[in-house]
Amino acid sequence: MAQKRVVGNWKLNGSLAANEALLGALGAVAGVDVAVCVPFPYLAQAAARLRGVALGAQTVSEFQSGAYTGEVSAEMLADLGCRYAIVGHSERRTLFGEDDATVGRKAAAALRAGLMPIVCVGESLAEREAGRVAEVIGRQLDTVLAVIGAPALARVTVAYEPVWAIGTGRAASAQEAQAVHAGIRRWLGERGGAAAAAACVLYGGSVKADNAASLFAMPDIDGGLIGGASLAARDFMSICQAANGA
Ligand code: 13P
Repeated sequence: MAQKRVVGNWKLNGSLAANEALLGALGAVAGVDVAVCVPFPYLAQAAARLRGVALGAQTVSEFQSGAYTGEVSAEMLADLGCRYAIVGHSERRTLFGEDDATVGRKAAAALRAGLMPIVCVGESLAEREAGRVAEVIGRQLDTVLAVIGAPALARVTVAYEPVWAIGTGRAASAQEAQAVHAGIRRWLGERGGAAAAAACVLYGGSVKADNAASLFAMPDIDGGLIGGASLAARDFMSICQAANGA
């Protein structure tokens, strides 16, 4: 079973002043890899303030360097002390036009720089209601695999984030999430063998202090990717503690 991991995704939130208090209240939790993915301008601040908590970015350029105005490369993120880069978050897919192939190239860019990509997958409500969950997630994962290759799967974290659960207060039930996670675990094993089957599979979407323990108790849920609740230190740390107990 993979080590438990809890990753905060601050999204487009924060200020130098507000971050000081939040970062100062985060800390290591025994038995859990804790990380926060902060906006690019605050990576240096977070790197200086965090103790026992890893750092990540919320997206990354597929390009390494050159004439790509506004882009931030994986090498730059590594330079700033990042361990993770989220790729393919549903907000990037729907609001910023990232398709499966782009997500694959971003994952490859992260791996090239020694970062661990957190590859987000998940279905919309319409896709769930049409019974297409496995097909949609299989397509999203297959496209990433085609770019990064099977041996790299063991160095990837997958985050299952059903779009209908993100920011809605309506988390997937532990059983609903477990069913999808088991499918992702199977896919990892079939494509990448035992090492890939041991990769970390996170759940994201309305994880709160009061539902984290039941989600993390599921055999194929290795932790969470936390949006709103990662902005309140006490909530985020309770979610990390729930992972410790699971
Ligand atoms: P919420 O926890 O706010 O639902 O967001 C989940 C998410 O998108 C994490 O990446």
